[in-house]
Amino acid sequence: MMNSSGVAVEARGLTVQRGSRTVLSGLDFTVEPGRITGLLGPSGCGKSTLLRAVVGTQAKVTGTLRVLGRPAGHPALRPRVGYVTQAPSVYTDLTVRQNLDYFAAILQPGRGHHDTRRDAVTRALTEVDLTSHEGALAGTLSGGQRTRVSLAVALLCTPDLLVLDEPTVGLDPVLRRDLWHLFHALAAERGTTLLISSHVMDEAERCHRLLLMREGELLADDTPQALRTAAGTDTVEEAFLHLVEAAATRRENAR
Ligand SMILES: Nc1ncnc2c1ncn2[C@@H]1O[C@H](COP(=O)(O)OP(=O)(O)OP(=O)(O)O)[C@@H](O)[C@H]1O
Ligand SMILES: [Mg+2]
Repeated sequence: MMNSSGVAVEARGLTVQRGSRTVLSGLDFTVEPGRITGLLGPSGCGKSTLLRAVVGTQAKVTGTLRVLGRPAGHPALRPRVGYVTQAPSVYTDLTVRQNLDYFAAILQPGRGHHDTRRDAVTRALTEVDLTSHEGALAGTLSGGQRTRVSLAVALLCTPDLLVLDEPTVGLDPVLRRDLWHLFHALAAERGTTLLISSHVMDEAERCHRLLLMREGELLADDTPQALRTAAGTDTVEEAFLHLVEAAATRRENAR
């Protein structure tokens, strides 16, 4: 169920304070359902803060933030929103399958569905291509494999909205490509909405829509194609630099 305007996430005047700083200031944006929206911007610009606000774990959030038709953080959203934090959270002394069994016991996927808990674990392991490692201790996995265990946990409940904080950082090109295939398959085949942060601009081209951020502000909310066309550039990276310069000029002129 989306809200009446048919968007998965709607933010109006979204502002977040962290300590004495305003880390996000008055953001307006929407996230379209069933599509991949990339949240791109340099380190420290506020990506993780924005994602935490969307999943409801960020304090001192003001403005309007609605997720799947409810206020962000509403208890009814818990089984519907999957979240993978920037640091993969897995138990290193459990095997891959034991990690998933543990989270499945808490999250209770499949309640009211045909999927049993065991089926949900097996499906999630297959989706992230870790079936061959299900008996390995999570502590012996590579960084990319641990990220995929965290992703599998987020997929247990077949979420309507999947929020991923830099899921491909540090992965080799083949794994990155495979993960992006999975993200596109989830959007196309299951209608999952994906909100994915990255500071690697070449990943922008793989998204349906982009939110470009800098220093707690949104520079753009558009498709990669529209951003390239508007800036008259060949890549989103060049378009981003163009937007940064334009914003700096506006600030100068406003002085
Ligand atoms: N507790 C805090 N008090 C004050 N400022 C904070 C606090 N936590 C984070 N910040 C600041 O908030 C800003 C946004 O941080 P955030 O983690 O959202 O950035 P990010 O875009 O996710 O960066 P990265 O790409 O490095 O993960 C940063 O400038 C950071 O220094
Ligand atoms: Mg971050």
